[in-house]
Amino acid sequence: MYKVLMVCLGNICRSPLAQGILEKKSKENNLKIHVDSAGTSGWHVGSKPDQRSIDVAEKFNIDISKQRARKFITYDFKEYDKIYVMDTSNYKELLRLCSNEKECYKIALILDDKNQKNLSVPDPYYGQEDGFIKIYNLLDIACQNIVNKLQNNE
Ligand code: 4NP
Repeated sequence: MYKVLMVCLGNICRSPLAQGILEKKSKENNLKIHVDSAGTSGWHVGSKPDQRSIDVAEKFNIDISKQRARKFITYDFKEYDKIYVMDTSNYKELLRLCSNEKECYKIALILDDKNQKNLSVPDPYYGQEDGFIKIYNLLDIACQNIVNKLQNNE
């Protein structure tokens, strides 16, 4: 089964939302893929997603409350087919950790798309609630692009 990993810094705000959105879209489109998420830091290991991410997901009928944060491990490079990072800092960190071309090529910025000018999903942690709506909308478009790519076997 095709396996996708979403990665951010804390694994409590952005990547849990990305996971929830891609899981929902893949179900709706009958795509049999496995999705998980992880953080480059271990700061929140074992925690639920940030309440503000849980709330924004719920507005769109997505339940991410059962997810628990974990830290990215180098074995993830073997386990997953594609690893989407939320920002350029996560990207640099994973590029530091990958150990061969095959692994390094699995990493991509989730907004790395011709139509997206800003390549980072902004870290909403220290901001207000509107930041969470903004990242939801960015991730919704990004995950739709992922579904389209998979459907076209790209
Ligand atoms: P995330 O957001 O990387 O989207 O989960 C953050 C969560 C926690 C912290 C920073 C970013 N923190 O500094 O604890």
